[in-house]
Amino acid sequence: MERTLVLNSPEKIGQKVRLCGWVATRRDHGKLVFIDLRDRSGIVQIVGGEKLGGLRPEDVVEITGTVRERPEKMVNPKIPTGKVEIEGEEVKILARAKELPFPVDTGGLDVNEELRLKYRYLDLRRPRMAGNLRLRHKLIRFIRDYLDNQDFVEIETPVLTKATPEGARDFIVPSRFRSGKFYALPQSPQQYKQLLMVAGFEKYYQIARCFRDEDPRADRAYGEFTQLDLEMSFAAQEEILALTENLFKDIAEKVLQKKIWQFPFPRISYQEAMEKYGTDKPDLRPNKKDVDLLAFCFVIDFPLFEWKKSENRWDAMHHPFTAPKEEDIPLLEKEPGKAHSYQHDLVLNGFEVGGGSIRITDPKLQEKIFEVMGHTKGQIKQKFGHLLAAFEYGVPPHGGIAPGIDRFLMVALNEPSLREVIAFPMTAGGQTAVMDAPSEVDPLQLKEVGLRAAGS
Ligand code: AMO
Repeated sequence: MERTLVLNSPEKIGQKVRLCGWVATRRDHGKLVFIDLRDRSGIVQIVGGEKLGGLRPEDVVEITGTVRERPEKMVNPKIPTGKVEIEGEEVKILARAKELPFPVDTGGLDVNEELRLKYRYLDLRRPRMAGNLRLRHKLIRFIRDYLDNQDFVEIETPVLTKATPEGARDFIVPSRFRSGKFYALPQSPQQYKQLLMVAGFEKYYQIARCFRDEDPRADRAYGEFTQLDLEMSFAAQEEILALTENLFKDIAEKVLQKKIWQFPFPRISYQEAMEKYGTDKPDLRPNKKDVDLLAFCFVIDFPLFEWKKSENRWDAMHHPFTAPKEEDIPLLEKEPGKAHSYQHDLVLNGFEVGGGSIRITDPKLQEKIFEVMGHTKGQIKQKFGHLLAAFEYGVPPHGGIAPGIDRFLMVALNEPSLREVIAFPMTAGGQTAVMDAPSEVDPLQLKEVGLRAAGS
């Protein structure tokens, strides 16, 4: 007999069905035993006698039985299958389950998080987590369809590469072929997407993994996170903003079923944001308790540089590829702190959920920016010579943006941390979920790449 999904059982009243899944709960009422059976589509109640008696929570079972309509007063309006129950006739145990380290039929936020991550494969059984990951899948599929329809092309860029500065530390990977040399994992595909503009693709996007070694916060992952990275040639800043706000309006309404507070999204200058709200990530919601309202805005006209006190030098407010406003270019020489840029941040309910800019395409100006940041000519050539060289061969004006997928979902779903929307996130202490990394490696492996662990 063909398998029936739990959710489809109400369509088969009076028929015999074969269901497969996990025992979510068991309740004994004298001779009658009730089981909630869970599969990927939901749960349904099974009623039976002794045959169900030996089942334990989370056992994997195959149950054959007849779908019966429940009497009116027994209907459970809380679940989509609440009008029916299955009279269990045959029960096959496919796999036994030990007692779980925590319940999986609750929200889970009260369970110790390290334990949840150690047993993440169990934690993901809870409907809230499974729902978040299914929604994440829908979001990414929606984004791909949306951008494909607008002539964007998704291109993968390398993960083993050279450092790309976004303000965090790099993760480095030793090389066996060139002992003593290292790859860096990209903090973002920033330089590759600009090279793709030089290559003539004009409209690029990627659901891209980014790697940053920075101190974690609830909304900032240590290690890795995912961006919708996109870039366009021949587009003014306003066109990038318009594309982004239309995309996120549709996401809010069609994927998340949430309301947008203001559309078009307000454009607020950095100065106005700081003066009026005291932050460059203003929360524009009229009422912070309104969980289904998404208040987006764009913050623009950022300063080009910020003073990095610890290193006694100017640093790029966004990243060094961000274009200064044309009229401010003369300030670079003497008063770089006064120059403004074409940076734009997408802000949602008080969080920065995306950042981007119009880029520098003049190699001389790009060199000048690196100089203001304190790089010597030699360092510029060694670190960024490839980009400057590419700009000598016909570079179109271009710009883009990169909304963070994890952070956007966290904010839009009112989750307390990024980890609630990632399948296998790291702990706050940088330990991977389930698998025990970082971990020691065989000294031979180290030797092959020309390294020795400290203290060995
Ligand atoms: P930026 O560094 O501003 O820009 O990052 C863009 C967006 O990525 C998300 N994000 C993070 N999410 C989780 N954990 C982190 N550690 C983390 N860091 C960043 C945020 C942020 O708004 N290359 C540029 C984009 C561009 O200029 O086009 C960049 O990466 O949502």
